[in-house]
Amino acid sequence: MGRPKVYVTHPLFATARAALTTRCDAEYWQGEGRPPRDELLRRIADKDALICLLTERVDDALLESAPQLRIVANVAVGYDNIDLAACTRHKVAATNTPGVLDETTADLAWALMMAVARRLVEADGAARSGTWTGWNLDQFCGADVWGKTLGIIGFGRIGRAVARRALGFKMRVLYADAQRAPADVERALNVEKVEFDALLANADFVTLHVPLTPETRGLISAPQFARMKPSAFLINTSRGPVVDEAALVEALASGKIAGAGLDVYEHEPQISDGLRRPNVVLAPHIASASVETRTRMASIAVDNVIALFDGRRPPTILNPEILG
Ligand code: DGY
Repeated sequence: MGRPKVYVTHPLFATARAALTTRCDAEYWQGEGRPPRDELLRRIADKDALICLLTERVDDALLESAPQLRIVANVAVGYDNIDLAACTRHKVAATNTPGVLDETTADLAWALMMAVARRLVEADGAARSGTWTGWNLDQFCGADVWGKTLGIIGFGRIGRAVARRALGFKMRVLYADAQRAPADVERALNVEKVEFDALLANADFVTLHVPLTPETRGLISAPQFARMKPSAFLINTSRGPVVDEAALVEALASGKIAGAGLDVYEHEPQISDGLRRPNVVLAPHIASASVETRTRMASIAVDNVIALFDGRRPPTILNPEILG
């Protein structure tokens, strides 16, 4: 085989781009935003590899339109955009970018938690717009974060990174997960495993760190909001559809919860109008968006592609069974 042909649906950082060029011929989407689906299918018709983002749906139709395709390298840890079974059926390797974005994502979960609890965006608005008229005792009083109860749903790498940050805040930390963390991890992070409903009822901050799967879609909906404290805040840096957005809007409007810090939405990039409230901090899916982390994510995707064409196992392959 000559030099493998790769289609990249987005700009790549210079280091990743240079590494890709050493081994492959790469074609990049040059247009605004994301490539339209029909354009993407047309472009990959003669490609051996696809490097894509979580915005690209990789399904049977896409795989059928690219008969030569051998690898799909997703530049994200979450891969709910990829039909993994379809990739396996088509003998196409699928890879993601685990491990490099845990701390950066945990930072943003904390940034949202602090910002919504301490009304930072509202306060910034007043300071910035010149409407602040001077110090007063009851201005922009929010909720303390320190000393409160943090509830972490999904206690994998990111959930644990969130818990580690809570150590300095003297918080009680509860987690809910199908798996119990090893005892030494529970001890070191000073966390307590509880039932999902108990977590909802006791936490002052509920933060979501589960992948989007059929089981987690709509995990937080009206019955879950009804169990939460009216003083509680919901933080979501996982995937939008884990939360029923209409139910969240209702919970905020009716005061079932005190506020939310959101990085992800059910129908991105649309955001429900009912979320544009002072007690909600909104970020545009940027949890992993530090230069360092995004650079590493891009490099991992490229490393996976190069490994496959060098006859090595792609380091973060999701369906190793296709390698035989
Ligand atoms: C991911 O990696 O899954 C994030 O949502 C984007 O960094």
